[in-house]
Amino acid sequence: MSAIRFMLNGQVVEPGHYSPNTTLLQFLRSSGRCGTKEGCAEGDCGACSVAILDSSPPDGATWRAVNSCLLFLPMLHGKEIVTVEGLTDGGELHPAQKELVDRMGSQCGYCTPGIVMSLFEACYREDLNEHWKVDDQLCGNLCRCTGYQPIREAGRALASIQPDDRFRDALLTSRPTETRLTYQHESQSYLCPGTLEELWDAIDGAPQARLIAGGTDLALLVTKRFEELPELLSLEGIPALRGVRIGTDKWSIGATTLLSDLETQAADGLPLIARMLRFFASRQIKNRATLGGNLCNASPIGDMAPVLMALGAEVILSSRQGDRRVHLDEFFLGYRETAIAAGEILSSVEVPVLGPEWKIGAYKVSKRRELDISAVCAAFALLLDEEGCVAKIRLCYGGMAATTKRAQVTEDALLGKRWSLETVEQVLPELSNDFSPIDDHRGSGWYRATLARNLLIGFFLETEGTPFQSLPARPSSTLVLAER
Ligand code: FES
Ligand code: FES
Repeated sequence: MSAIRFMLNGQVVEPGHYSPNTTLLQFLRSSGRCGTKEGCAEGDCGACSVAILDSSPPDGATWRAVNSCLLFLPMLHGKEIVTVEGLTDGGELHPAQKELVDRMGSQCGYCTPGIVMSLFEACYREDLNEHWKVDDQLCGNLCRCTGYQPIREAGRALASIQPDDRFRDALLTSRPTETRLTYQHESQSYLCPGTLEELWDAIDGAPQARLIAGGTDLALLVTKRFEELPELLSLEGIPALRGVRIGTDKWSIGATTLLSDLETQAADGLPLIARMLRFFASRQIKNRATLGGNLCNASPIGDMAPVLMALGAEVILSSRQGDRRVHLDEFFLGYRETAIAAGEILSSVEVPVLGPEWKIGAYKVSKRRELDISAVCAAFALLLDEEGCVAKIRLCYGGMAATTKRAQVTEDALLGKRWSLETVEQVLPELSNDFSPIDDHRGSGWYRATLARNLLIGFFLETEGTPFQSLPARPSSTLVLAER
């Protein structure tokens, strides 16, 4: 058994006897480091934001703003963390603090430490070259009293300024650290293996343990439902599970690839994915959430599943016995139920790169543009033959059934028909044979069914280039348009 050990504001910290279900936020506040605030304890408000040094992203080490309310203490083993208390240097404010002070970007101050930490990440990012990216950087931080203009202006002033300071030095000298951990506290355990072999051994030793990577969803069971997760088995320490291999006709995306890394990498080769990720969640969540986690959680409103399904993705399920490949269409078996068998993990996702002959589009409809859950999410892929008739089509919807699902009855009705508004309107009633959406607080069944029909009409209009309310080329609303 080993102890949890990490760097916090430049000091080595060994928290001692804490439950592995203790969040970093709980640890910080219970140990007198109260600068970091608690608002929602579910990743929505950003008051708890801190920064973590990630040594293994694709483009070199980087500081990431993360929600400390969703980080379990053992996840920090071997890592370096900075909180708002660790920013000043000899009494000098960090630029992220000074800019907010100078622009009067704080009133009651409750949100301010979290906003400072998001601005801290903004300083060291190298890609904040457009205003919408700065807005995205800050969209996970809520402020109820200042008004966002001075905060936003501070963000624009700080974007990618690369201060020449000890935090930049830490990036330049950072090396991947040992994150393997076997931690036991009373009857609770947390294991973080470093290789697949060690993982298979760990699964054999604790077949009932919950797999965790990022934990942005699983942690809610602890922080909101007050459940215990007595045995946790982390996938975060296994380099083979992380990263994107880019091919000309398909991409292989490791299951623990962070959504923020995927968003950056997909911008050129898989724009449909990148643009859905723009509206997917806050920067802090995307800095921890993984692609595999989003699929394995099997939520009917997970936003990546319809996009990946429309693109024709397959998942690779791995175990000690080897790999098997499952088409995403067949991966979701029921509400929060997947085809992953005992002893298996989802190790990667293979996404075909569709050529320009395909017409593709993805749409997310939610009550709020940023940081909201879909009422309905839809992604479509269409291939026409030389006569303009439907040769292949995939119509994939989230929020319409217990799982993300293709509208196969509607697809069949479209196959071989001329792709026209008349055809689309003719087949729309078939959507009610594919789906009987439920009523809930995000929308009534009627509302969802109407959205599903309207999104398909919208897709048709888009494929025809019919002028309708145009949107800027860059992401600016929850309506995500393919660029073609
Ligand atoms: Fe609200 Fe963590 S306390 S995001
Ligand atoms: Fe009061 Fe932002 S300054 S919540």
